[in-house]
Amino acid sequence: MLSSTNLQRFLSLTTLLSLVTPSVRATNSFIYAACFPSRYPPNTPFQTNLDSLLTSLANSASDSAYNSFASGNSSSSPQGSAAYGLYQCRNDLSTGECSSCVRSAVGQVGLVCPDAYAAALQLDGCLVRYSNEDFLGRLETSVAYKKCGREVSGGDGGEFFRRRDDVLDELVSGEGSRVSSSGTVQGYAQCVGDLSPADCATCLAQAVEQLRNTCGASLAADVFLGKCYARFWASGYYPQAAAAADYTDDDIGRTVAIIVGILAGVALLVVFLSFLKRAC
Ligand SMILES: *[C@@H]1O[C@H](CO)[C@@H](O)[C@H](O)[C@H]1NC(C)=O
Repeated sequence: MLSSTNLQRFLSLTTLLSLVTPSVRATNSFIYAACFPSRYPPNTPFQTNLDSLLTSLANSASDSAYNSFASGNSSSSPQGSAAYGLYQCRNDLSTGECSSCVRSAVGQVGLVCPDAYAAALQLDGCLVRYSNEDFLGRLETSVAYKKCGREVSGGDGGEFFRRRDDVLDELVSGEGSRVSSSGTVQGYAQCVGDLSPADCATCLAQAVEQLRNTCGASLAADVFLGKCYARFWASGYYPQAAAAADYTDDDIGRTVAIIVGILAGVALLVVFLSFLKRAC
């Protein structure tokens, strides 16, 4: 059996690997999930429509980086049973990577948000979202997830902030998805494919404003709004052991605690069962 130290080593290693190669290989790593609180009853027309919608999303991802579907919204379907959904992959992914990301997200969304009428799951490489209400094509700029990284320290802050502002300006000024870099700062921004160019520009302007206002002193930051996101990071930020240590303490520590707890539970059960066997 895997000992807990080996397990911890293994988990730290996989986290380190995903941090060292944030752009391509970490495509399936979790960023956030949002679950609508009310739940649909089982075996209803909505569930059938949702299942068929999710299948369409998973199948379509090998053809394009974005697509949306509606299921059961014709006038002949029972009222209120329609499901609407979309997926959006990061534009630098190959179709194979996009497809794998969307399949992974579709597979997880039902576990993370069981029976929810609406849910969104954002992985590093893709977003999958569905709802019982038609949200397609609508601009949404409320904050879904935000993370400010470690703050700039030491004397070269001025140069860093200049570069970062160049990157942020560039992220706002393009259209759709864009990568930007200036010196040692890199950035990426993307709209969900259902937005018009004008709504995309509005969305990105707000995401970038949030980055500037709430993570202004950070070396790396992410802001995900309902229909777009923007991120920047200082080159070398992610591979640094110090940054990885933040994750190790929090997320990995918690994961290991849960797994160790489960292993301890199993061990107790085995002891209990063998005790029973001997007693009988
Ligand atoms: C179903 O919803 C889609 C997405 O909003 C829309 O384009 C389509 O016209 C709708 N179909 C009907 C019959 O309402």
